Amino acid sequence: MARHLITSAIPYINGIKHLGNLVGSQLPADLYARYLRQRGHEVLFLCATDEHGTPAELAAAKAEKPVDVYCAEMHDVQAKIADGFRLSFDHFGRSSSPQNHKLTQAFATRLAEVGLIKEVTEKQVYSIADGRFLPDRYIEGTCPNCDFDSARGDQCDNCGKLLDPTDLINPYSTISGSTELEVRETKHLYLCQSALKDDLATWIDSKKDWPILTTSIAKKWLNDGDGLQDRGITRDLDWGVAVKQGDQTWPGMEGKVFYVWFDAPIEYIACAQEWEDAGKGTDWERWWRTDKGADDVTYTQFMGKDNVPFHTLSFPATILGSQEPWKLVDYIKSFNYLNYDGGQFSTSRGRGVFMDQALEILPPDYWRWWLLSHAPESSDAEFTWESFQQDVNKDLSDVLGNFVSRITKFCRSKFSEAVPEGGSHGPAETQLIADLTTRIRAFEGHMDTIEVRKAAAELRAIWVLGNEYLQANAPWSTFKTDPETAAMQVRLALNLVRIYAVLSAAFIPGTSSTMIAAMQTDDQSWPDDVAAALDTLPAGHTFTVPDNLFDKITDEQREDWAARFAGKRD
Ligand code: MF3
Ligand code: ZN
Repeated sequence: MARHLITSAIPYINGIKHLGNLVGSQLPADLYARYLRQRGHEVLFLCATDEHGTPAELAAAKAEKPVDVYCAEMHDVQAKIADGFRLSFDHFGRSSSPQNHKLTQAFATRLAEVGLIKEVTEKQVYSIADGRFLPDRYIEGTCPNCDFDSARGDQCDNCGKLLDPTDLINPYSTISGSTELEVRETKHLYLCQSALKDDLATWIDSKKDWPILTTSIAKKWLNDGDGLQDRGITRDLDWGVAVKQGDQTWPGMEGKVFYVWFDAPIEYIACAQEWEDAGKGTDWERWWRTDKGADDVTYTQFMGKDNVPFHTLSFPATILGSQEPWKLVDYIKSFNYLNYDGGQFSTSRGRGVFMDQALEILPPDYWRWWLLSHAPESSDAEFTWESFQQDVNKDLSDVLGNFVSRITKFCRSKFSEAVPEGGSHGPAETQLIADLTTRIRAFEGHMDTIEVRKAAAELRAIWVLGNEYLQANAPWSTFKTDPETAAMQVRLALNLVRIYAVLSAAFIPGTSSTMIAAMQTDDQSWPDDVAAALDTLPAGHTFTVPDNLFDKITDEQREDWAARFAGKRD
């Protein structure tokens, strides 16, 4: 059995993520992690919150909390919601952890040692009243283009023009309101990525099996000139990883922190240390150091397309540049965007469904199923309430739910709450076994290659086979003339319930557990051999009829929700 390291892009700490974020990284990563565990592989599945940078500072200020307190609270909120969606992280860490601080400083120190760090002097706006340099977003003023009086230093929200803070008329600090601003020189550390261009190009070219979305973005950034310029990895901010060499000060870098995009991916590694330090496992280096056994590890990353440049170029530059034996990613699964009902999800306007709200209105499996079966793989996808209602009602309720309830109830009424005895397979069963075998092998193939939509379609087709079998062979009619054959049909279908629970577990883990519990079995073995798997629950094995697995979404609910999530403004 193989060892698989899986990471999902780590979500920003500021605020609760929407369903588009979920389906672009954490959810498909969870699907894959669950599947691989089921197939007997050793898996380490890591995620964390991305806690540094200006957005975290701004959000904390808005919440009127010290930034460390804000981050600790939001980490717990995000962890609870992740649990609610049954995301099976082995550890949900924090980029602000001491482990990440140390490791980030160690990487920078090492990169300086091998000559890949240079100092660059830049001009930046300094606020005398605040006693600090201001990031672009902390400066507002009048837009030179449209006269809007609270345009931000990076962009005017009114006319959309991209701005430089020095373009603003009457600029002021958004921290203090002070207009006492001046342009001062400040020194920053740059990572000499351009020196690594050939190494990165060779590495990316060697990845023949990566999704086109991943390699096309990587190559565009690599070759467009823009992507591989040397990159500033420090900022004049308070909140972040202090710029130090080991635990010594870094001359000229007092009061500065590393840029959030430098320390965030390093958290993938630090998170494994946190996992070990939390007592959840041992020997984290076995997953991350190729000199300590990580050569055998297959490392897969999940992310939205906007994150691809950082994972194909910037983070690998950190790793390769260090010349230390760190594990590089083997496969990058990236996603397009999920749009919301004719537009985009919008955090600022509260448009679309956010993870906490989703769980308030329906159990996680409804969302997991719809999102995964519509994963934005080959193009952007769109969430509409019509599609959600229709697909959930059809796939989950009419197909899977109905199959389970029909067969368990029929058995209880005509036989008992135990698998009936008698009869033997005929041509219809042989055919069904052949069809199931073909489809299950196809399903495994799609799961192995992380083709999420295709896997969902195959799983749905596997559920349909059961319904079609019942429809065509109608044990309720057979029973009247040939109860032995009816018993065999029912026995087969009850065993299919267990097989469906096993095959569906990575998609809809809660429902899968309900099905397994109803079948009163501990046997969750994979149907490698379908005929044998159909004999798992022998005659006489007792079960219970589960409650309805899924409630249908009504038109009224659909309309209510569509109105509720349309957004506060606009
Ligand atoms: N927080 C970033 C986002 O949500 C993702 C960071 S991924 C990492 O877009 F590589 F930096 F960790
Ligand atoms: Zn403007």
